[in-house]
Amino acid sequence: MKKDQITTPALLVDLDAMESNLHCMAAFFRDRACKLRPHFKNHKTPLLALKQVRAGAIGMTCATVREAEILVSHGIGSILIANEIAGDTKAEWLADLSRHASMIVAVDNRGAAADLARAQRDRKTQIEVVIDIDIGLNRCGTQAGEPALDLARFALSEGLKVRGIMGYDGHLQGVAKSPERDELIRQGSKALVDSAALFERAGIPVSIVSTGGTGTHAISGDYPGITEIQAGSYLLMDTIYVNRGAPFQRSLTVLATVISVKESGHAVLDCGVKAISGERGLPTLKDAPGAQLTALHAEHALIKPEPDSRVKLEVGEKVELWANYSDATVNLHSHFYGVRNGQVEEVYRIEH
Ligand SMILES: Cc1ncc(COP(=O)(O)O)c(C=O)c1O
Repeated sequence: MKKDQITTPALLVDLDAMESNLHCMAAFFRDRACKLRPHFKNHKTPLLALKQVRAGAIGMTCATVREAEILVSHGIGSILIANEIAGDTKAEWLADLSRHASMIVAVDNRGAAADLARAQRDRKTQIEVVIDIDIGLNRCGTQAGEPALDLARFALSEGLKVRGIMGYDGHLQGVAKSPERDELIRQGSKALVDSAALFERAGIPVSIVSTGGTGTHAISGDYPGITEIQAGSYLLMDTIYVNRGAPFQRSLTVLATVISVKESGHAVLDCGVKAISGERGLPTLKDAPGAQLTALHAEHALIKPEPDSRVKLEVGEKVELWANYSDATVNLHSHFYGVRNGQVEEVYRIEH
């Protein structure tokens, strides 16, 4: 099928760009002690996760028990839930999954650790945990040092297997590269590595110290003692990372059709917030210089010509949009069309 024959709105992935991102990130980690465990929440596509593992990833990171379940059902053997899981229902679901794969989950409080421990006792399984440390994002995570060690001791006393430490520097991902930013990334990594050393001195072996994302991987991935990186967006790439020094290309677009054009050149596309996220800023047009997206409605995008522009979109014409936030855009679709040279080469199923 040709790209132009796809029913819109539709999610496209440019295979050349996506494969270049895949290999570029794999090459970075190939000869390093630190390894890549890509975040699944970005694409939610098992076939892409399998490509990442085949390219050298040591397993997958994810955000929810449902995502972990999808990964287990596609044969991924080692899964880090880089997020807090609380309550008996989810803890029991997780305990069931830990029969089929190494299931490692972040904990930052005793209540959640106790829920996980109870679930694994009831289900007679073994859940593994990493102590989640807040390194500046101000979201989840306990404090580095003694508070983290105290929680690790509690988790052990409850029968959980403590694998190590994680901390996510989300507040630094979209910050443009500079010596100051790089120093902040190193400080976050240092807090994790120092806490890992404290665990070791207290007799708790540490095999995982996990951090980082697309914007910070090159600094934290080189920091001695960091064992793995959780980057996700690098494969599809968000506009926010472009011009921030990350060596990846945008591969994700949404294909839309022009459904109405006014004499003034103002046009309307069949693609609104139900097909592309407006989170983190309005999408931009890929190949239509001279035109600008000005608003997203539920099922429509409004396009305005730039002053003096001669560009006039035609009814029925197809255009591609860059999403600013791929996580929230992928989540709106059931599949991707993998496109090369104008032809659909593969269709990937997105799992929810
Ligand atoms: C805990 C955690 N780790 C890793 C990532 C991946 O970061 P990125 O998509 O910037 O590579 C995210 C993304 O939000 C995250 O929340």
